[in-house]
Parts: sequence; C-alpha cells; structure tokens
Amino acid sequence: MITVRSQSELEEAIRPTGMASNGPIGFVPTMGSLHQGHLSLVRSSVAEGGMTVASVFVNPTQFGPGEDFDAYPRDEATDSELLESAGCDVLFLPRFEDVYPEGFATTVLADRSLTGVLCGRSRGDSHFDGVTTVVARLFGLVRPDFACFGEKDWQQLRIVTRMASDLHPSLRIIPCPTVREPDGLAMSSRNANLSDAERSQAAALPAALRSLADAASQGEGNPAVALGAASARLNEAGLEVDYLEIRHADDLTSCADPARHSCDADPAHLPRVFVAARTERTRLIDNEPIFTGSTRFRTSHQTAKGAATARRAASTT
Ligand code: PAJ
Repeated sequence: MITVRSQSELEEAIRPTGMASNGPIGFVPTMGSLHQGHLSLVRSSVAEGGMTVASVFVNPTQFGPGEDFDAYPRDEATDSELLESAGCDVLFLPRFEDVYPEGFATTVLADRSLTGVLCGRSRGDSHFDGVTTVVARLFGLVRPDFACFGEKDWQQLRIVTRMASDLHPSLRIIPCPTVREPDGLAMSSRNANLSDAERSQAAALPAALRSLADAASQGEGNPAVALGAASARLNEAGLEVDYLEIRHADDLTSCADPARHSCDADPAHLPRVFVAARTERTRLIDNEPIFTGSTRFRTSHQTAKGAATARRAASTT
C-alpha cells in the first residue's frame, strides 16, 4: 500500500505517467479510527477489482460548534495497518490545505428534502453541507469509477447518491451493509469514546430498534404508540433520544404505517426505523429496515449475509 498526502502524489500513485491503467478505481472516504465496518467497505471495493483508494480526513466543516471535532478519535498508524491488511492499494491522508486550499469558497448544497430531516434537522444544515462539499472535493481529487458508502449512515448514503448522480453521473455508489458488534451495536469510530457504563447503555439502541422494526413489520398496534414505547425504553436505559422515526428508505419522507407499505423484495427500498440517541458524552445513530409483505420472515439484524438471504428468500416467496 502506498501512502500519499498531496494531490500530485495521489495522481502519481493512481495514474502513474506513462503507465497503463490499473483498471477501475474504487474509493472509500473515511474519517479514520477505522473498524471492521470501514474495512468491509474496503473489501467490497477490492472485490470489484481494479485499484482501491481509501482516504482518512477528519473533515472540520461537517462538525458544528460544540460538536466533537477535537475529541474525534484519531489513530493514523493503526488505520494504515488495518487498511493494508484489508487489501487497500493507496491511502490518501490529505492535510487541511490539500482539501481546502487557500481561497476555496464553494459549498455543495444537497437536496434539502433529504438534508432537512433526521440528522440534518438535529445537527443543522451545515452538517450535510460539510459532508457533500468534502465528498465532492474528494471525488474531484481521486476521480474514482465507484465509491463505497455504509448503510449505517443511511441518510448520508442517500444524500451522496443523489449528489453523485447529479454531479458525477458516471460514478457508481456502492451501498454496504451495517457491520455490528456481537450484541448488535453498530460499529462506529465514536464507540471508542464510550465508557464501560455508556457502552452498556448503548446496547439498548439496537435492541429497541430491532423490536420496533419487528413489531412494525407485523403491523402490531399503532406505529406511533410503538415508537413512543421504544423511546421510553431508550430513556430508561439512560439514553437521551434525539429522534426515533420511521421513514421511506429512498426519499426519507415520513412513513405512518409501514405494514401497509407496498411490498418490495429489495431491502434497500423498505421503510426504515431511524434513531439518534446520546449517552452522556457521545451521540450514536443507527437504522434498520422494516420487512413488510413477503420480506416479513426476517427476525434478526440485517447483516451482509442476512441481507443476501433476505433478498434470496424474498425472491422465492
Ligand atoms: P466515517 O464515519 O469514518 O465513515 C466512513 C464510511 O464508513 C461511511 O460510508 C460510513 O457509512 C461507513 N461506516 C461507518 N460505520 C459503519 C458500519 N458499522 N458498517 C458499515 N459501514 C460503516 O461517514 C463519514 O466518515 C464522513 O461523513 C465522510 C463520508 C468520510 C465525509 O467526511
């Protein structure tokens, strides 16, 4: 694996002058402090063939005042080892001035109907404006053929997919399933900041999500009541709920009655439960699909294997 910092080093590593093409270029943008969730994206990219470029850049413009930019975990040496072990070819570690050179004055504003809800509502417009701006800038530097993004950040995935289809139409966005700890907690760089007590509280998050998604898929009771009960359960576990909502997967509009959602065999189009909740010091987010109609057999967390099984079973029922 080659590690590069500047645009010229990056260019020489990806498209060496006078050399034949290495095939398609896959890109995995990250903010580092890598875990198996990030590495699953790298492995998905490697599996596509060609060359895989991963970037590590803690992007200040997507953190609001009072958010955890300074406390965001950073570990360059371990990140580099993990990326190499996952088969990454080029690690791009840009400095602030490589991403935002002197005079940089452009902000990419994504579709407000996607950015104005969920995390966009609680963190403010500047959060996703920062994400779309840095991702557009990184796409411009790396010029990949495809890029991998995690379903763990479903809203970000939808926003980046919209932006890419508008601004980079030949670029393919590959969605990758959420990787979880054995107790169901979605892997996140921020989990490193949890104390033991907060880590135990955090386990309530996937449990509440799963039971809510299962109840909603059975059409059990009133979804609004079920949401209230799940929210109370999270509060009892010591978590402060930021939002807990059921929305359509594609356009993120509200979904009042998921059991009535017209059946679609592809989990990517099912309604989803979205949650953001805080422990004392850390904000965590997660989401789960609500399996409706013929996809309703599902009982456990969606994993890469589970999603594939779900798709297979749904297409045979
Ligand atoms: P970061 O939080 O480091 O995440 C980088 C990528 O890893 C994102 O696509 C995210 O969805 C994915 N990811 C994180 N945890 C995951 C998990 N448990 N399972 C599967 N995928 C997971 O998201 C960002 O950085 C930034 O906003 C970024 C896109 C890099 C722009 O700065």
